[in-house]
Amino acid sequence: MKIRKAVIPAAGLGTRMLPISKSVPKEMLAIVDKPAVQYLVEEAVNSGITDILIISNRGKQSLENHFDYNPEYAESLIRAGREKELEVLNSVTEMAKVSFIRQNNARGLGHAVSLAKSFVGNEPFAVLYGDDIIFSEVPVVKQLTDVFESYGKSVAGVKHVDEDSICRYCSLKAEEVGGGVYYCTDMIEKPRREQIFSDLAILGRVVLTPEIFDILARTAPGAKGEIQLTDAMAALARSTGMYAKVFDGERFDVGNKLSYIEANVYMGLRHPETKDGFRQFILDTAREIENGKTF
Ligand code: UTP
Repeated sequence: MKIRKAVIPAAGLGTRMLPISKSVPKEMLAIVDKPAVQYLVEEAVNSGITDILIISNRGKQSLENHFDYNPEYAESLIRAGREKELEVLNSVTEMAKVSFIRQNNARGLGHAVSLAKSFVGNEPFAVLYGDDIIFSEVPVVKQLTDVFESYGKSVAGVKHVDEDSICRYCSLKAEEVGGGVYYCTDMIEKPRREQIFSDLAILGRVVLTPEIFDILARTAPGAKGEIQLTDAMAALARSTGMYAKVFDGERFDVGNKLSYIEANVYMGLRHPETKDGFRQFILDTAREIENGKTF
């Protein structure tokens, strides 16, 4: 079955990005010239997704504005004959059917995904965690939907990570079936060292079958007092089994200060309009700091 729908949970508080997240959703932070969430929508669209639901909250109207038309801005670009810019402006609205729903209270990623039940219906769907950007040749959602089409069960996008990261993310009990694909029978959110199953952790992308909604409805709050998607996926893995795919791609977390800056450096050194000037600036600045210049 082809996967047509994707859910982007983007209603978290973004506490690690205070103070900016007080007034700007972390999902709207720019990587060069595009907000983080636009990279996610583009990844979904380039993977064959046509319908996207973004889980937002009352303080994040700028997300909705970004995917809506802006007639006043369009009018002034038309009057100025700025056709190329007009195309950029409108393309954001036209790339997919993007709809929104609000999570009234940040009760966790699992709770946010549970709100997508009526949007999803009885189909498999992709979830792109709203603050995880992944740059790759083949979009990661496509890498996962390909595995889903071969095996017909839920698929998590994973990476091999070090022990500190495993304890901050999650750990999968899984055995390789070939080509970076693993069969997964259990997982644990934020394990203590003695609870670690393996060095495989989920990073930002999953494809789920709709059974997850019944499981989420009976999932009790876990780590941080929140309803954790990993706890529901663990129950799914234990009951029906699921798969995991070690994806190809560079992942950045825009909800983390260092990773957010790294994402801008990564993209700034590749973007056609910035790469040459930015590279020179970084080299010059590093040299000046080495030579003792402060400001
Ligand atoms: P995170 O746990 O990384 O986001 O959730 P957070 O809760 O905003 O982070 P901190 O700890 O306060 O800094 C991963 C994704 O799930 C969304 C977030 O917006 C983020 O994109 N999320 C999280 C929700 O949509 N609702 C929630 O209740 C929690």
